[in-house]
Amino acid sequence: MTEVVETDLTPDTADDDANWWRQAAVYQIYPRAFADSNADGLGDLPGITSRVPYLRDLGVDAVWLSPFYPSALADGGYDVDDYRDVDPRLGTLDDFDALVVALHDAGIKLIVDLVPNHTSDRHVWFQEALASPRGSAARDRYIFRDGTGPDGAEPPADWTSVFGGPAWEPVGDGQWYMHHFAVQQPDLNWNNREVRADFLHTLRFWSDRGVDGFRVDVAHGLAKDLGDELPSQAELDAIPKDGDHPLWDRDDVHEIYADWRKVFDSYDPPRTAVAEAWVAAHRRARYASAHGLGQAFNFDLLEADFDAGQFREIITFNLGLAEESGSSTTWVFSNHDVVRHATRYGLPPRGAGAGGGDHTAEKQGREWLLARGAEPVLERELGLRRARAATLLELALPGSSYLYQGEELGLHEVPDLPDSARQDPTFFRSPGVDVGRDGCRVPLPWTREGVSFGFGDAPADLPQPDWFADHAVEVQDGDPDSTLTLYRRALALRRELQTGESLAWLDAGSDDALAFSRPNGWVSVTNFGDVPVDLPAGEVLLTSAPLDDDGRLPGATTAWLRA
Ligand code: NOJ
Repeated sequence: MTEVVETDLTPDTADDDANWWRQAAVYQIYPRAFADSNADGLGDLPGITSRVPYLRDLGVDAVWLSPFYPSALADGGYDVDDYRDVDPRLGTLDDFDALVVALHDAGIKLIVDLVPNHTSDRHVWFQEALASPRGSAARDRYIFRDGTGPDGAEPPADWTSVFGGPAWEPVGDGQWYMHHFAVQQPDLNWNNREVRADFLHTLRFWSDRGVDGFRVDVAHGLAKDLGDELPSQAELDAIPKDGDHPLWDRDDVHEIYADWRKVFDSYDPPRTAVAEAWVAAHRRARYASAHGLGQAFNFDLLEADFDAGQFREIITFNLGLAEESGSSTTWVFSNHDVVRHATRYGLPPRGAGAGGGDHTAEKQGREWLLARGAEPVLERELGLRRARAATLLELALPGSSYLYQGEELGLHEVPDLPDSARQDPTFFRSPGVDVGRDGCRVPLPWTREGVSFGFGDAPADLPQPDWFADHAVEVQDGDPDSTLTLYRRALALRRELQTGESLAWLDAGSDDALAFSRPNGWVSVTNFGDVPVDLPAGEVLLTSAPLDDDGRLPGATTAWLRA
């Protein structure tokens, strides 16, 4: 095998504490679906604390906790009533402190989710705004406008929300408020000084409690410039999103993050942040700047098919972007918003490109869900086999890997939840168009038996299918071939092998295979096709499926070697 491309990013990553995030394996916990300690069917913070030994044995470097704040759960907790408290159903601030201690004692960092684009409609500010007249200081914290037509009975504009349906909601006195997401999620006005100051307070509140970093929800949405005349939706759609769009990815959003950076850097080690910003790929580096949030998600692999060409293009492209920003890149296959990758990879490929942001493969997963898992037929085993290969490739890449709870158990999406059990607002706001995201949020199975497979002592609030039993932690623990064992081995080896943030592509001997090496001779080879490929010389350290009798790498398999 010959080296064909050298992508040299930064020199060896210093492993001092300030840089822990650059190549971390971060495990996302969706708190209400992880572990239920008090038999109410809802996961909670003490439940997570009780499972810290599991997280330690899994070998992750950090946990990212999706929202655990008081919330009516109109959007799974992304509708926050109070940014500086814990939902009583999930525990107390003392429980939170206990979780921080337990994680830190296990050598695991903690990232919390921050939701600054919108509050919930139960937030004290919004309640105050509703009780206050037009033009009041209380209304200025949100985006209120007079309606049009007689008595303001028509919306200020025909905008549609991200979740479907109108983006403006009347409040009964001729005024309307704007919401990018659900009706219960009014957008904040980030031109308001009090809003800005309050979030600095929130950042300090959690940082003082020992939180190591923040995942910033809808990071590209905060800054808005609506002007006096609101454009129509068609006009909005026609405005390029290149820094001056009225609603999305405005250049001035980075002034907000520059202020946040001062707070992050006032701690030792500095607190970290990762932006959830669905922006054009070439604009991502701004969010990842060391003067701003420091790191940004790239969702390109999540949108791609299981395809060597797409993967290679995406990897090369994103390593280049990381170099541009001075940050490290991020890799994601699954999270609480998308169809699980074991399932996506069991559906026929459709073809997506690097940085295109067209959600192609993910969209296909949604279409499958909409058909309640009927057509096209899901190839479950193939999907899981590919997912294992993809994950092993991911964990060998330079940069951070964000893993979603349950992927280490090889879980598939649950496509056939009864409509009566569904909770996701996208299901209710777009009937017949989007079946929603509940299928990847079904509580984890810990044991083979039990009323909720060990999730707790009561049935889970989202019903678990019978086949979850076969995926339970208890079933996989100690099984050398299980997906859980693969993740544990891979994460342990990754820690041992971790090296400088560079990658050199190798000639893999087939267009359907990818091979690369890291500076210390750690080699990863993935066969995306069907025909076995020869492995390069070296000691085989780990494979996602057995090699064939001739020691070749079969289809849909990854191998790690030491050259
Ligand atoms: C992105 C979050 O990941 C998603 O779950 C949520 O619905 C929206 N932001 C709105 O907060």
